[in-house]
Amino acid sequence: MELIEASNPHTQKAERGKDMEFTVTQAPLRREKADALILPLFQDEDFDRLRLQKALREHVRSVAIDTHDFAGKKKEVFYLPAPRAFANLRRIFLVGLGKQEAYDQQVLREGIASVMRALKKYSVEKALLLARPVLVPGRNWMQFGQIVAEATRLGRYEFEEYKGSAEEDEISRKKRKELTRVAIAGAQASQQEALKAGFKKGEILAEAAIYTRNLCNQPPNVMNPGRMAAEAEALAAEFDVDCEILETRDLEDLQMNALLAVGKGSTQQPRLIILKYSKGPKGMKPIALVGKGVTFDSGGISLKPSKNMDEMKFDMSGGAVVLGVIRAVAALNLPVNVVAAIPAVENLPDGNASKPGDIVKAMNGKTIEILNTDAEGRLILADALSYIEKEYDPGVIVDLATLTGAVVVALGSAAAGIMGNDDGLIEDLRRFGDNAGERLWPLPLYDDYREQIKSDVADIKNIGGGPAGVTVGGAFLSHFIEEGRRWAHIDIAGVAWTTKDTPLAKKGATGFGVRLLAEWLSAQVKKN
Ligand code: BES
Ligand code: ZN
Ligand code: ZN
Repeated sequence: MELIEASNPHTQKAERGKDMEFTVTQAPLRREKADALILPLFQDEDFDRLRLQKALREHVRSVAIDTHDFAGKKKEVFYLPAPRAFANLRRIFLVGLGKQEAYDQQVLREGIASVMRALKKYSVEKALLLARPVLVPGRNWMQFGQIVAEATRLGRYEFEEYKGSAEEDEISRKKRKELTRVAIAGAQASQQEALKAGFKKGEILAEAAIYTRNLCNQPPNVMNPGRMAAEAEALAAEFDVDCEILETRDLEDLQMNALLAVGKGSTQQPRLIILKYSKGPKGMKPIALVGKGVTFDSGGISLKPSKNMDEMKFDMSGGAVVLGVIRAVAALNLPVNVVAAIPAVENLPDGNASKPGDIVKAMNGKTIEILNTDAEGRLILADALSYIEKEYDPGVIVDLATLTGAVVVALGSAAAGIMGNDDGLIEDLRRFGDNAGERLWPLPLYDDYREQIKSDVADIKNIGGGPAGVTVGGAFLSHFIEEGRRWAHIDIAGVAWTTKDTPLAKKGATGFGVRLLAEWLSAQVKKN
């Protein structure tokens, strides 16, 4: 078994974030000491009615508003030095929130993320954010605090683990100051507790999402199945979580031939990672999370084209999201029972690799004709799903996978696709997704799609060979869900990483699904 080095990079990153403090201040602006005052503004609000000291208001007006240099459009950030009378604040950053009628949690989240990232170019250690009741969606101050903490951490995140040997970088790194304090001004004393509770939750959720991003952004020579397993063990050691790693021999004993078929082409042994968090009521059936953990997907013998093939290091995102969710649930100490299964494999071509035409018998007894070795995610998930059902009898299963290129065609990066056998469950997850800014869009699982994967020579085949690639993938997985068990499948292929910088995530892994599922699990506490 691999050992995690003492200087485990993920732990270091998490600790660095902890140096950032979120607080509330009641002192008047004139008496604050900060490196930047952040003023969020709507595009269509009356600037004159802003309750701001005159010297400050007139300064902002003459420099930014009257000149039309700043319009207040969503994500717009404008910098100006503070007026002399407010030299204690040094700088002012205006951030746009767009039109008031279209304002919601996500606009706020993206606005905060944009301005907090912009601060990186300046040496801002202490930022002061001026909150006004109109900026608080639903007047929910706890949620406001949570969004501020989440957006600050996520917006400023960068994956820099392998950068920085160049001299130039060293110099700019020394010059750059880390943001150590974000204080909210303008709130009533009575809102202080709610804000603080929000900060705490927001920091936990952001930290979990960042943990997931760090796992996904690792190069595939580092993040292999063994490393995934070691990360799960490290997580279990840090929190009150049980971890079990099934290796090749265990997988053979369990007849997980679909999972084994995918791992065969690699010198890296496959693993089935099992995590168990049981702080819920004894009699409560666990909620199961299953995540695709293909640490590199070359396509296998059905080799992918080389263009952008490097992106297939992100094919373990489903698994990394599941790890992040477990981390969040444990850090929040939620009274729920959760079990997780992450099949971790590397999909490579080799003399020993699976071939198109191979037939394997999955753990649940169904025979699968492998017609395309690149449709490997569904093969490993098949056995992981069977195992979790047989071993833990979960009340609900949610699986996450970068399963199909087709979902990228259908939805792009605007939403993940969701399918399943329970409309209520899907609706529930969608609601949490909308709130978290991690949207899910439903696709149907008609019997037609199951027809498409009937095989001439086995029970089913692993590709449909026609259109509707997303739902064919879902239909395949449905063969491994027992009758009557509630299940949802989330295809995150279009959202797990981004190829351009966005307010909440720079190029690279996004951690999509961590906050959504952690929030959804928080709500299951009351229900059960
Ligand atoms: N990991 C890929 C899906 C993928 C493709 C994710 C592009 C993100 C971006 C998956 O294993 C795969 O290769 N799926 C095939 C399935 C096909 C052979 C039925 C695909 O989508 O092309
Ligand atoms: Zn593939
Ligand atoms: Zn894949």
